Amino acid sequence: MLSKIKKLIKEAEEYVTEAADEVEEFRLKYMAKKGGEVTELFKEFKNVAAEEKKEFGQALNTLKNVVQDKVIFLKQQISAKDSPQENLDLSLPGNSEMQGSRHPISSVRNEISEIFTRLGFTISEGPEIEDDRHVFSALNFPPEHPARDMQDTFFIEKNPDILLRTHTSSVQVRVMDNQKPPIRTISPGRVFRNEAISARAHCIFHQIEGLYIDENVSFADLKQTLLYFAKEFFGDKTEIRLRPSYFPFTEPSAEVDVSCSLCDGKGCNVCKYTGWLEILGCGMVDTNVLESNGIDSEKYTGFAFGMGLERIAMIKYGIKDLRLFFENDLRFLKQFQ
Ligand code: DAH
Repeated sequence: MLSKIKKLIKEAEEYVTEAADEVEEFRLKYMAKKGGEVTELFKEFKNVAAEEKKEFGQALNTLKNVVQDKVIFLKQQISAKDSPQENLDLSLPGNSEMQGSRHPISSVRNEISEIFTRLGFTISEGPEIEDDRHVFSALNFPPEHPARDMQDTFFIEKNPDILLRTHTSSVQVRVMDNQKPPIRTISPGRVFRNEAISARAHCIFHQIEGLYIDENVSFADLKQTLLYFAKEFFGDKTEIRLRPSYFPFTEPSAEVDVSCSLCDGKGCNVCKYTGWLEILGCGMVDTNVLESNGIDSEKYTGFAFGMGLERIAMIKYGIKDLRLFFENDLRFLKQFQ
């Protein structure tokens, strides 16, 4: 019996074929549930004399493994032969790799950050989930200010003290909490407002906040800083104009327009024939804000500004619908490679 097994092992080891149906025949010859050589030998195992069981069992297992390995080997050999690699034309040009690109909002954020870092501004960040003090009360928002309204602010779990920041001005407060003047910092980040989504508005968008506090900081410094920024970002011919405005945290406050770079200020449909495009809000930090954040308003003055990155990117790239920034449509994103 042992010699029979050894013979079968040798046969199985030497067996070759390139036909799939012959592989199956080979497998059945040994492994068929009824009449397979290996199956039948296992049935006979109980009749083997006790002292021979060990040797017999080992030989039988070897046979089983040899057959199983051979089946796997033959199948692999056949499928490798059938695969198209055989017909590979190595002279064909390769498949080009898809290359990613930076999102336009990230590019604009990086470019603006770089301009202000050149002026000595640091970059600071704060949390997106904030409390009322950092977003509103330390920024001189009166308790009845409409921005606190449910319609504008996303509150967390109906707790009126914990909310998603509606502007990056909250980071001003965080910086003043932790730093003494001189302070010169910008804070890029995401902000959230409970607004209907349209071509011009979204409930999530991005802002960059700027804050400069030192002795003798004047409105002229603010104007000059913003003019430098506008020329660096939109081009050397760019001019700016300031219009009086109101923000609770600055006094006086202004809104800043840049001359329309598309028509050089002559008037076109982008600037609605005014020659100007509004880009940011700014002003001198209100003394109430300085004092409520522990800064001596007799000694220090400062300016602040805040701009929406989507708006800046729309102007820079001539994009008409703000929703495009959030849809991640590759046809849109590919244009910024
Ligand atoms: N936080 C304002 C907003 O979200 C933008 C802003 C205006 C920021 C004037 C400022 C500022 O720092 O001085 O609309």
